[in-house]
Amino acid sequence: MKKITAILLALAAFVGVNVHAQKFTGLALTPPMGWNSWNKFAGNINEQLIRETADAMATNGMRDAGYIYIVVDDCWEAMNRDKLGNIVADPKKFPSGMKALGDYLHAKGFKFGIHNCAGTKTCAGFPGGRGHEFQDALTYASWGVDFLKYDWCEHGTANSEETYKTMRDGLATAGRPIVFSLCEWGDTKPWLWAKDIGHLWRTTGDIYNCFDCIFDHGSWKDFGVLQILDKQDGLREFAGPGHWNDPDMLEVGNGMPVNEERAHFSMWCILAAPLIAGNDMKTMSAETREILTNPEAIAVNQDKLGVQGFKYSAKGGVETWFKPLTDGDWAMCVLNRNKEAKKISFDWENKNVTDSFAKRDANFSTTTYSLRDLWAKKEIGTTKETLAAEIPGHDALMLRLKNSSATSASAETRPIIRIKAGVTEPFTDADGNVWQADHGFADGDTISRDENLPVANTKNPALYRSERYGMTAFSLPLTNGKYTVKLHFAETFEEMNAPGLRVFSFNVQGHEFKDFDVFAKSGGLQHAYIESVNVDITGGKLDITFTANIENPEINGIEIIPAP
Ligand code: GLA
Repeated sequence: MKKITAILLALAAFVGVNVHAQKFTGLALTPPMGWNSWNKFAGNINEQLIRETADAMATNGMRDAGYIYIVVDDCWEAMNRDKLGNIVADPKKFPSGMKALGDYLHAKGFKFGIHNCAGTKTCAGFPGGRGHEFQDALTYASWGVDFLKYDWCEHGTANSEETYKTMRDGLATAGRPIVFSLCEWGDTKPWLWAKDIGHLWRTTGDIYNCFDCIFDHGSWKDFGVLQILDKQDGLREFAGPGHWNDPDMLEVGNGMPVNEERAHFSMWCILAAPLIAGNDMKTMSAETREILTNPEAIAVNQDKLGVQGFKYSAKGGVETWFKPLTDGDWAMCVLNRNKEAKKISFDWENKNVTDSFAKRDANFSTTTYSLRDLWAKKEIGTTKETLAAEIPGHDALMLRLKNSSATSASAETRPIIRIKAGVTEPFTDADGNVWQADHGFADGDTISRDENLPVANTKNPALYRSERYGMTAFSLPLTNGKYTVKLHFAETFEEMNAPGLRVFSFNVQGHEFKDFDVFAKSGGLQHAYIESVNVDITGGKLDITFTANIENPEINGIEIIPAP
């Protein structure tokens, strides 16, 4: 009898796992940004390259522009799993091991991404995940992986949806929030079934480093920028915060002329595509860096509305695209697919730009928008006059249409954002304010403490009963403007029962707080303390960085309150 009960319990636990497993929510609320080794280095990778890439990105403006995920693509694995079936890194290429690599990336404010495959082997012939999904998920979690790109080679007769669901369930069971990037090349239309499985899915075969070409390998093809772009038709309604169409990684910086790089990047921004750079970070030219780190172009891509843009018109190889943005703004892109320059003119009054999917209208007869050229970085007039421009061959004009009437009223429409550490569900405080769970917003570990712990100096003790610990970087997409940021702290770890034991520094959007001692500031163990700082957001995101001096930093909650 006992045995039967045990079997039933085991069965229930097993069924329970499958019923309840879901993808991690709160991740990739804007298209993920980062770097991946494949486009430039293919199989020629090792830990030194990845570390040097991180070093370069920490100083060349890439990290600060938002490129946070550093993804090690195919060929990191040893040819065989170990005796217990664990996946292992090639000890020659990664002698320090993957956990050490993850630690290195995290310490520099990056997130750690890795590649493997839903089939029996990766496309380069290394061990795939098939049949090892739960085991591999535990391994990746133990290495501190934050992003898993999961390929589709050697899948045999496997059903794509079921196979990717198995890995999603493995990741959920392992318990570490990991962005799940499906790389199934659009073969079985993942946009129709992957919304609850992954955070992004490839829509096409691999990108090829050219603007307008197809590279035919015989049994498969790689596609140039324009060819990939054309394959995005009809997919926009499947994308949104937490679930993105992925037209593959960027080839910016891999040899195309600068006009083609600009057009490629502009279109990926309009498409709300993941921005995963694929070039050599150590030797990047100034021109390429200018493109990849253009904050206003990135703000279009990272816009919180999360709506993929659409093709408004196409004539003679010139396409006009629009993307609705928060605050009533629009992004507009005029793409010249021709090799030769084209003159364009756009007379606003007679145009009707309507987005029935996002339910947004740009009514140019009742609203005047100012026009900002995002590549020339200057104002070029308003929608009162016809737009006239000449666009060089294989280039793009990218504009932000600013709705000045909406902007002046926008202070009231920007919501207050409240984030609480250590919870998976929203939390309502004593004033009725709802705090969202911090999952997906920060690195470090989330820790829940005793529910009944008293905390002085606050009417919201529950807010301080959990924390994020050891975090180094927090970055949140945010509409530009002035805000008051309130950081909530309390020392609730009994061993830290004196000043000077936990001392750390943090920086809120350039405002430095050095040698911060929660115990000393709050007046004791289990005492709440709020640090307020006024910030001016100009680059579309709020950044807070933490540095441990004596002991790791801890934070309980963050409030972001728009200032009038
Ligand atoms: C596939 C993917 C690529 C890359 C390679 C690695 O082709 O689509 O992005 O990951 O596998 O082998």
